[in-house]
Amino acid sequence: MNFEDRVAIVTGAGGGLGRAYALSLAARGTKVVVNDLGGARDGTGGSSSAAAAVVEEIEAAGGTAISNSASVTDRDAVQAMVDDVMAKWGRIDILINNAGVLRDKTFAKMTLDDFAFVVDVHLMGSVNCTKAVWQHMRDANYGRIVMTGSSTGCYGNFGQTNYGAAKLGLVGFMKSLAIEGAKNNIHVNSIIPVAGTRMTEDIMPEQMLGIYAPEKVAPAVVFLASDEAPTNTILGAGAGGYHAAHVTLTKGIMLKDEERTAETIASRFAEITDRSGETVPQSGAEQGALVMGRQDELN
Ligand code: NAI
Repeated sequence: MNFEDRVAIVTGAGGGLGRAYALSLAARGTKVVVNDLGGARDGTGGSSSAAAAVVEEIEAAGGTAISNSASVTDRDAVQAMVDDVMAKWGRIDILINNAGVLRDKTFAKMTLDDFAFVVDVHLMGSVNCTKAVWQHMRDANYGRIVMTGSSTGCYGNFGQTNYGAAKLGLVGFMKSLAIEGAKNNIHVNSIIPVAGTRMTEDIMPEQMLGIYAPEKVAPAVVFLASDEAPTNTILGAGAGGYHAAHVTLTKGIMLKDEERTAETIASRFAEITDRSGETVPQSGAEQGALVMGRQDELN
């Protein structure tokens, strides 16, 4: 894998997972923009010191980096960050959308403001950064973009409806973007990390923090940022384990006109949800084609 002369933006890289990604990429010769708003876990406050400290670490290890404290929710500030990088280094090969916040509460107790805020940081923050680099990557005919999903987005978690909606939204964003980016060699993937960081410090016992070190997730993100990256993949990483998540489609059943009732669907629900022979369509069109291809079963 060749990372020499590559330029990466890593958002939310002032600590936790983002810091580990930034250090790993820089150690391989990538010039890194360490972006971080430097606020609290719930997104309040802000400071440039978190990003600056990671830049110091990278430089102390002989790497090249600059810090940036734009909020990913601020479209103008994100555009200014991208403009600065283009002026300084003339290219952006890699974007790791990692910045994130938490405002956990049950849906009953959650305010709509807290719901919208979390969606704004994770989903729209990643959209803002991706939009700002997209044309540059298209022009260069090269790009590697990583979205940060979550097990909550894929599988759910108590008290995280806002976070889960944002995180699976990012996977949906990735899926269409990967299709659109393919002709310009822009590969788009999602990482589903598990790591002991300030985001998980109060749910992980102390002894688990080392087992779930962010450094164990970083190789997966380096791979997704590399010239060997796949596209349209949901890659899970944590505690030394690496997995893929898929959005599958069961074979299901075809119902003729006279059978097509809610009662038939209820009585054959076990067949509809049976997982033997399930597939992973590579696009929405492919899913539609599967049903179109079975119309003769209705004759
Ligand atoms: P973290 O809290 O250490 O890192 C998040 C970083 O994003 C912080 O440094 C924060 O200042 C920054 N940030 C927040 N809002 C920002 C904004 N508007 N603009 C720029 N930067 C902003 O937590 P961690 O665990 O390193 O999280 C990184 C990503 O991984 C997040 O997207 C998180 O949702 C995701 N994740 C983490 C998991 C874990 O087990 N730690 C599990 C699943 C997903």
